[in-house]
Amino acid sequence: MLHCKKYSVLIFILWLVGCGVDDQRMVIRMGHNFDTQHTIHRSILVMQQALERVSNNTMTLQIYPSAQLGSEREMIELLQIGSIGMTKVSASPLVSFVPEMQIFDVPYVFRNHDHFLSVLDSHVGQGLLNATAPSKLVGLGYFDAGSRSFYTTSKPVHSPADLAGMKIRVQESQMAMAMVASLGGSPTPIAWGELYTALQQGVVDGAENNPPSYYLSRHFEVAPFFTLDEHSAVPDVLLMSKVIWDDLIPTQQSWVKLAVQEAVEFQRQQWQLDTETALREVANAGVEIIQVDTAVFKDQVSTLHASFDGTSLAQTIQLIQEVGRD
Ligand code: GCU
Repeated sequence: MLHCKKYSVLIFILWLVGCGVDDQRMVIRMGHNFDTQHTIHRSILVMQQALERVSNNTMTLQIYPSAQLGSEREMIELLQIGSIGMTKVSASPLVSFVPEMQIFDVPYVFRNHDHFLSVLDSHVGQGLLNATAPSKLVGLGYFDAGSRSFYTTSKPVHSPADLAGMKIRVQESQMAMAMVASLGGSPTPIAWGELYTALQQGVVDGAENNPPSYYLSRHFEVAPFFTLDEHSAVPDVLLMSKVIWDDLIPTQQSWVKLAVQEAVEFQRQQWQLDTETALREVANAGVEIIQVDTAVFKDQVSTLHASFDGTSLAQTIQLIQEVGRD
């Protein structure tokens, strides 16, 4: 006998198909986990408009924000079976499906923000997008998600020593857990949608994210210490279901690629502004923004880096270091 919850999930999945036809237009369903204020949502609106324009209104996106279709992990699973057409997820939950993506959870891999963007746009970034294919996914591009820093509920973090004994929420990725452990905290995976309550109720003592997500999720209300240690840079990845992609004719595929490119360009222009706005707004709301000597944090992760010696991860780090050093 089917369990009731499983039964309703099955009905829901049967009801959803990754794409359909509405008024002779092909409609691709796209889910993501941010609300409509976030630049990611606005960038997806740019993608929707671009797709309508370049396809002469024969294709469009139907957008489901605010995790209406589930967590990022669940949306990847829906994508694999073609129940939704597109999503954008952080590279961290993607690691369970595409292990190569763990490189982004390794702390202090990029020299600076420009280096990070150059890597995304390089053969290394493209190679990682291509690595999604065996998992029935099509990696179409990256949104900038800046760098991630710690934020805590009741005690400021000035150095890794302050993280000792603190439960820090991480995304669902072994490397994200290793990163927090290497810096002295206790990693605790929790879904993004449950994090506000987890911080408020003391299930965790802190979390880590980029300033726009910290601000727009209102986590600053319950975690008013933000330490700018910038330990990692984890991009958001635009994914399409391979099932749906393979059903498109080459012209339609090229329209989707063009629409993605426009959205990526728009989002890149917005990111810096969003980061500055977020830091200013949380400071106005009383958040203590803690500037730290990142060299101390970097020293702390050297053992983790050394543990990669001789692995393919060390090779990828080497390739990343070479980007931009001509
Ligand atoms: C970033 C990312 C989100 C992700 C979130 C998280 O904000 O853009 O896609 O859900 O981190 O930490 O869960």
